Amino acid sequence: MRKPYIAGNWKMNLTPTQGAALVKELAAALQGKDVKVMVAPSFVSIPAVLQAAKGSNIIVAAQNVSDKANGAYTGEVSCEQLLDLGIRDVIIGHSERRSYYGEDDEWINKKVLFALSQGMNIVLCIGETLQERQSGKLEEVLSRQVKVALTGVSAADMKRITLAYEPVWAIGTGVTATADDADSAHAFVRGLVESLYGKEVAENLIIQYGGSVKPSNAKELLGRENIDGALVGGASLTADKFLPIVESALE
Ligand code: PGA
Repeated sequence: MRKPYIAGNWKMNLTPTQGAALVKELAAALQGKDVKVMVAPSFVSIPAVLQAAKGSNIIVAAQNVSDKANGAYTGEVSCEQLLDLGIRDVIIGHSERRSYYGEDDEWINKKVLFALSQGMNIVLCIGETLQERQSGKLEEVLSRQVKVALTGVSAADMKRITLAYEPVWAIGTGVTATADDADSAHAFVRGLVESLYGKEVAENLIIQYGGSVKPSNAKELLGRENIDGALVGGASLTADKFLPIVESALE
C-alpha cells in the first residue's frame, strides 16, 4: 500500500512572512492526518517556513539544489547548506528548470546522484511537451528522462526517490491531463521502473501527478490506481485550495 504524498511547489511566490503564515494554517488543519504533505518554498523563505512548521508533520523541501558540493558557483545553493538548515527533501528536474534554465537529463542525473550521496530525498520531475505528445513521442521522452536521470541510482536508493509526472502542457495552464491519460502515463513509468529495478521497487514507488491539480479534479486523479499523490503549483498557494486537495487523498 502506497501512502499518498501531496506536495506544494510554491515556485517564486510568497514572501517568508506569507509562507510562514500559510504553513501555520496548514499545520493546524493537518494535525493527526495520515497523509504525507510537503511544501517547497523559495530558498530565502525556508528558515521562516521551517520555524512555522515546527512540531507539525509537514515536510519543508527545496525547489532545486546544486550538483556541486561547494565552491565558486554564484547564485547556487548546496546540499550541505540545506542539510544544515534541516532540509532533507528537494525537487529536482522541474520542467521550468529544464526549459528556462537549461537543465538537461544529464545535469539532472548529476544532481540526483549528488543529492542521494548526501542523504537527501528527491522528488524527480518528468513529463512531455505538447509537441512531443502530439508527435507520438510520449513513451520515448518519458523513457529517456527516467533512464538518464536514474543512471547510477541503486535499488536501495530508489526508496528515497519519488517521481512526479508533470505533462508540461498541463502546468499552470488550467488544462489537466484526463485521469485516464495520467494513469496510463503513470502505469508506463511504473513498468519502466520495474524493468530497471524489479517489481518490488516499482510497486513501492510513489508517482505524483502534477499539472493544474485543483480541488475540483484532485479526487478523480488521486482515485486512480497508479496516481499516488500530487505535485501542486498554483493551488498550493492558499490553504483554501491546498487543504481540499490533501483531503481528497484521504478519502
Ligand atoms: P500547477 O503547477 O499546479 O500550477 O500547474 C504544477 C507544477 O509545476 O509543479
